Amino acid sequence: MNASGAVAAAVVPAAGRGERLGPGAPKALRELGGVPLLVHAVRALARSRAVGLVVVAAPADGVAEVVALLDSHGLDDKDIRVVAGGATRQESVRLGLAAIPEEVGIVLVHDAARPLVPVEVVDAVAAAVRAGCGAVVPAVPLADTVKRVEPNPGGPEPVVDTPERATLRAVQTPQGFDRATLVEVHAKALAEETAGGVAAPPVTDDAGLVERYGGTVVVVPGHEEAFKVTRPLDLVLAEAVLARRRAADAY
Ligand code: C5P
Repeated sequence: MNASGAVAAAVVPAAGRGERLGPGAPKALRELGGVPLLVHAVRALARSRAVGLVVVAAPADGVAEVVALLDSHGLDDKDIRVVAGGATRQESVRLGLAAIPEEVGIVLVHDAARPLVPVEVVDAVAAAVRAGCGAVVPAVPLADTVKRVEPNPGGPEPVVDTPERATLRAVQTPQGFDRATLVEVHAKALAEETAGGVAAPPVTDDAGLVERYGGTVVVVPGHEEAFKVTRPLDLVLAEAVLARRRAADAY
């Protein structure tokens, strides 16, 4: 890690239960090709020369288990630390950020649930931050048309409008940030939470926090293999992608 911050640190929020995937182990510990999703995700980050440190936010009651798991998969060539995550993704990221040494100037945040992100995406995001973008997200165009609805669980949902598909992007991770920017927006969100009053809706990604406080976020090309493993079918697709990679080379 150098003092100019040219090397990035990555935070991996991995403390979610992953209930949409069905019953079983926490999502990050579910296996893909015999290896936990979290191990794939950490390896994907560690493969990037831009990343010098990976901080994993583990379930609070599973820190020792995650440390043992990472050790048992030989992830010892990079600096990897494990901290206790929080009750929300946002809190897990904040706790991970707090474990990054002061001199690191670039932070990537990557979901444990995106095990197959290609190293080119990690490199491109880190490079864009290094080039001066304060907040960078990888994204892909949408295949489906998207409609905004008035939620009505269990019943028909009135359509409010249809955003023009060509202007929409599905956002992935790792998202990259100038460290000071990310620390500042997380601190502001925490201050608002603890001040009480009308709570802002929870953000589902870190770039969303930067946007909330008026910062600029830019998009770089993502990759179809950086998809998030959320539902059972995603695991089937991930197994197929992994099998194809293993057949193509000694992955
Ligand atoms: O729920 P979702 O799929 O958006 O979760 C995205 C990522 O955030 C996952 O990697 C999950 O483990 C993580 N997370 C977390 N702490 C929580 C909830 C989710 O680290 N309390």
